[in-house]
Amino acid sequence: MSIDQSHSLETIAALSSKITILFGSETGTAEEFAFDLGTAVQSQDYRCEVGDFDDYQSTKLVDESLVIIVTSTYGNGEAPYNAEEMYNWLETQEPDLSSVRFAVCALGDTGYPAFAQAGKDFDRLLEENGATRILPRFEVDACFDESVEPFIELVQGWLVEHGQNYKKAA
Ligand SMILES: Cc1cc2nc3c(=O)[nH]c(=O)nc-3n(C[C@H](O)[C@H](O)[C@H](O)COP(=O)(O)O)c2cc1C
Repeated sequence: MSIDQSHSLETIAALSSKITILFGSETGTAEEFAFDLGTAVQSQDYRCEVGDFDDYQSTKLVDESLVIIVTSTYGNGEAPYNAEEMYNWLETQEPDLSSVRFAVCALGDTGYPAFAQAGKDFDRLLEENGATRILPRFEVDACFDESVEPFIELVQGWLVEHGQNYKKAA
């Protein structure tokens, strides 16, 4: 392969990269936040998909470019049911996520001692497995009707600065 061909393949790879938003949710709040974020990002012409952890094969994570996790917390600081498989995979398989960028929006209720713990743990596991954090973890007390809007603005701000690769072709 010539250098020119290799460059054009890199360009194609960069152009085809997308933002993947995954949600962990039991009663729909984190799911709603994830779709709000996805809609806001898509309306600015970024390529973006929103998905339920339950419908997502964990091993695909290694091939993602930018993953945004929006998750609530259950039990005593545990991940919601639909996020358990991903959580266990990250913890036990220690995948190489060195080519993945990520951000986490952690929902919870400050009335619980382990506030937003599932989001905190995803944030830690992604970093421990080599992924690059693009924004500090964002925590929301959804039981006090705190909004996801400030997180959406942070993501949009990051995309303006660094996210040209995720824009749809004009
Ligand atoms: C049985 C139960 C256990 C919970 N445990 C925690 C917890 O340990 N830490 C926390 O921050 N929030 C906890 N929560 C609060 C939820 O994370 C919060 O209500 C969240 O907004 C639910 O989001 P979802 O609708 O996306 O599932 C718990 C809620 C319930 C009903």
